[in-house]
Formats: sequence, structure tokens, C-alpha cells
Amino acid sequence: MSIRRLPSELINRIAAGEVVERPASALKELIENGLDAGAGAVSIRLSAGGLDRIEVADDGSGMTPADMRLALERHATSKLPDDAIEAVTSFGFRGEALPSIASVSRLTLESRVRGAEGWRTKIDHGVAEEEGPAALPPGTRVRVEALFDKVPARRKFLRSARAEYAACLDVVKRLAMARPDVAFALEHDGRTILSLHPAEPPKRVAELLSHELDRHGLGIDCVRNGIRLTGVVSLPTFNRGMADQQYLFVNSRPVKDRLLVGSLRAAYRDLLARDRHPVAALFVEVPTDEVDINVHPAKTEVRFRDPAAVRGLIVGGLRTALDEAGHRSVARDQFAQPAAWQVEPVEPAEPRLWSGPASDSAGARAVVADLSMDFLPQGRASIADPVAPSEPAYPLGIARGQVAATYIVAEAADGLVIVDQHAAHERLVLERMRAATRGHEVARQALLVPDVVEMEETDCDRIEDAAADLLRLGLEIDRFGPTSILVRAVPAALGKTDVSGLLNDLAAELSELGTALSLGEKLDHVAATIACHGSVRAGRVLSVAEMNALLREIEVTPHSGQCNHGRPTWVKLGHGEIEKLFGRR
Ligand SMILES: Nc1ncnc2c1ncn2[C@@H]1O[C@H](COP(=O)(O)OP(=O)(O)OP(=O)(O)O)[C@@H](O)[C@H]1O
Ligand SMILES: [Mg+2]
Repeated sequence: MSIRRLPSELINRIAAGEVVERPASALKELIENGLDAGAGAVSIRLSAGGLDRIEVADDGSGMTPADMRLALERHATSKLPDDAIEAVTSFGFRGEALPSIASVSRLTLESRVRGAEGWRTKIDHGVAEEEGPAALPPGTRVRVEALFDKVPARRKFLRSARAEYAACLDVVKRLAMARPDVAFALEHDGRTILSLHPAEPPKRVAELLSHELDRHGLGIDCVRNGIRLTGVVSLPTFNRGMADQQYLFVNSRPVKDRLLVGSLRAAYRDLLARDRHPVAALFVEVPTDEVDINVHPAKTEVRFRDPAAVRGLIVGGLRTALDEAGHRSVARDQFAQPAAWQVEPVEPAEPRLWSGPASDSAGARAVVADLSMDFLPQGRASIADPVAPSEPAYPLGIARGQVAATYIVAEAADGLVIVDQHAAHERLVLERMRAATRGHEVARQALLVPDVVEMEETDCDRIEDAAADLLRLGLEIDRFGPTSILVRAVPAALGKTDVSGLLNDLAAELSELGTALSLGEKLDHVAATIACHGSVRAGRVLSVAEMNALLREIEVTPHSGQCNHGRPTWVKLGHGEIEKLFGRR
């Protein structure tokens, strides 16, 4: 077969394969061009999720007819005047977006430089069709129709109009957050979706993120080694099943960079379950020579010269903010609103659980017995009889009983507290193990007869490799043949535990973490897995003394407002709320 030079049309179509994957990617390129042209306002109109039509109009510099012809040629750009890709601050620089889009659609480009006449040129799948004068305000208007109509392979992979629309909306949101100083308008199938005026960054972000972040968000602003991190992240208890509300920016460029996503994840490690995700908008600012944006044709990935510094800033900065937010939890904030409580009249079936001889389960009896020998301060009516200043004030109050052998009910000076005992205890065990790993080794409990756990060879290898770390956490193991591990001791905090289940979970954990995390971070992860195995299960009856001990420990333990999976560990119903429930206020 002989080698031939490809015709430019075909070259463009091949490039389009990389740059224009779906309507949303074409839309992204067009908006970026408008922003690069210095637009103060960008307005977007879509039909059928961009499958039928994408239209982007800006009030930027506009182009002369000669520039319009050049703009449609491959590798023609106005954005690299001195060949310095390292120093580029515009969104574009490759000079291939317009010709690529034009090669796989019917494209109409209209533009007008201030003080001159407007011009229009039409391209049908890479072939110039017609050009001539056009009436439009200064700026540029691009219309893309019949995208991929002649590229059946690509058309086949497109999703429904609804899914393509969602991707387009995501693109608009990201760019609107990147440039809060620019007005954005978005219309889909004739319906106005967004209409954003220029605003300060926090306000723009707030307009585009879940409104609940007003109450459940944490502002971030920190600087380290010349790198700045700003933005907002959600409290761990305000989380989502998908990582779809994470907006990350490097020098005002929206990115979906693995390092940044991973750092965000790491900051929430052990505050969230693996399948839950925080909401975040984070802006990283680094000197332009510290980051390479020419990594990927769509420019959504970047390379940092010092990735560890960026990662350290994100993990450290977020962690500090989350630590300071300490005990705040969504549930508590929510319950400031009585609407979140059940106000319907109680069903007759429910009171029966509480009264009469039917409720003689062992659990209920045990609690009643404990209450009768109540040795605690008799500060029952805290309001009428305020705690003397010398006595400690307990924010979580004094335990009054246990419900369903799962929840502790306590009376605080300012209201009623309900604690999920399993969630709370799991958190406490983890924080205890963490504190211990910072100092010395965790206390071990030797097994009288070592346990042999059978596992896949690769899993055994992982566990064996981590043996030294596991020992610091109180788990003493030895390799015992290719597919088994001998467990000699477990962390004392665990008590009686399912050793095989624990080892299997740890192997899964280690395989997922891979080599991505530092040793300290890995230890923390592993500690969380161990803690989960060691906590007081729901359904265990606790004595009043045990309950109070738990309450006191929650009060002094960091991060105790949520369990290791991001659920709240306790909620408080204030006196005001109780009164509202009964219509007294
Ligand atoms: N909306 C616009 N307003 C003014 N000039 C524009 C506009 N869109 C494109 N141009 C001009 O056309 C040129 C080519 O645009 P194109 O998007 O193909 O490449 P680019 O933006 O330079 O680089 P990239 O391929 O990385 O996007 C730009 O460099 C710019 O000079
Ligand atoms: Mg461009």
C-alpha cells in the first residue's frame, strides 16, 4: 500500500474526533472562543440538547472577513503571538476547534468588528458554501447544525437529547463559574434556563451550585508555596451519590483532572463512604510556568510541575477547614427548621410500642432498670433549674434512655438529643485509633489460637506487604502459604470480631488505594476499615453509664458529628422546636 498525504478535510475530521466528541464539546469550544475574544456577555441557544442546533453569540472583538476565513483553517490562531505555549492564559491556543467543528456539521459564522460591517460565511461539512454581508451587533455569532449527520459512527454513540442537554448545561455552568465577570444566558428549546449577571466569584458559584450549600458549605481560602486555593466545599454530611457536582478550576480553566479529583476525595477520606461524594467548587491558582495545560486536546487535564504541593494544599486546606467545622452536621442544621420533623398526628400503632405490658422486651426492661438506679446529677429540669456555673455543661446532655436498642435519647440544657449509637461509636473507635497511630502502636489482643484466613494469592500479597503498617494498628499477621494468612493478634479496641471479614475488607481497601496514597493516608484508611468492624452494633442494649460515657466522648472527639460514612451521628431538637411541634409557639 502506498503512503499518501491526507486531504485537509479528512485531517480536520480526524482532529474533530478528539476535540468534538459530542454537542457539549462543540459548545465548550464556542463559548471559550467568545470568552477569549473579550466578551462581556455570552448567550447560548440550544435545540434538542445541541443535537439539532447550537448557537453561541458574544459581544467580543469580532473578526474581519479575512480573519474569519483564516479562523476556519487548521492551525490558525490569534492566541499565540510569540509561540509561548507555557505562558498562554487564553482558553484556546491550538487553532483547530472551528475547522474541526466545521468539518462535521453545517456551520454558520457571523462576525462584526466594531465600526465595520458584519460578514457571514457558511461551511457545509468542511466545504465553503457562501459568504456575504450580514446584519448583527458587534461581536460574533456561530451556529452549528446537523452535527455528526455525516459521521454515522459518532452519531451512533450520542445519547438522548436529554443526556446531551445535561452535558451542555454542565459545560455552561463550569465556564460561567470560571468567568463570573461575564454575563451568561442559556436557552434550551425556547426555554430560559440560566440568566446570570456579572457577579463576584462566591455569588456566581452560589447561583450555580445547590442552594443548600449556603447552609451546608464551608468557604475555603488558603495559600501555600505560591499556590492559592479558594472556593466552597460541602460539609461531609451534605453528600451525593454521584461526583457530578464537583467543579474544579486551574487558573480559571475548568478541568477534570485526576490529581485534583483524587485530592478532594482524599480530604474527605473516612468522613464519607466510598460511594458518596462531596459537592465542591475549587479554584487553584498557580504561576503559569508551574502548570502545563497542553496535555489533552480538550484541555481538561493539566500537569503540575509539583503535583505533591498542589495535592498537599488541597488535602491540608480542606482538612483544616473540615476540622474547624468540627461538630457541625447537616442534620442538626436541618432540624433548626421544624418542617423537617414529622408533624402528622401519631398513628395509634406507635404509642402501643411505648406503653402497656406488651413492651416487655429484654431491652426495654434493662433500660428501665438502669434508669431506676440513676446515679447521675438530678438536673432533670435544666431550664427551671439551670446548671450551676461550676458544673460542666454537657452539650449532648444526660442520657435518659435507649430506643430500639439503637438510639440514645438524652436531655440537654437546650433540648432533646438523639444519638445513633453505632454510627457514633464507629467514629470514636476510628478517632481513638488515629490518635494512637500518631503516638505509638495501638494496643493488641493476642489470639489464643491464631486464625487462618484463606484468600486469593494477590490479596494475601497485599496484606503481607502492609504487614508492618497493620502491626502499628494492632493487627499482627504472618504469611502462611500462598493463599492464607495467619492472624496472631487484633486491635484490642475491636473485641470479638470476624477476622476473615476484616482481612477481606482490608485487602479490597488496599487494592483500591493502590500506590496512590502516602503511607500515612493509607494507614488512616485502613484504620477506618478496622474501626467499622469494631464498633457497637445497633441493637446492643447499653447501660446508662455506657450511654453517658459515649456522650461525653462524642463531645470531645473531633469529627464526631458524622460517622465514617458521612451520616450524622446525632441530632438535637431544641426546646423552641419542641414547643412548635405542639403548637405552643
Ligand atoms: N467568537 C470569536 N470572536 C472573535 N474571534 C474568534 C472567535 N472565535 C474564533 N475566533 C478567532 O478564530 C481563531 C480560531 O479559533 P479556534 O477555536 O479554531 O482556535 P483557537 O481558539 O485559537 O484554539 P483552540 O483550537 O485551542 O480553540 C481564534 O484564534 C480567534 O482568533
Ligand atoms: Mg478556540
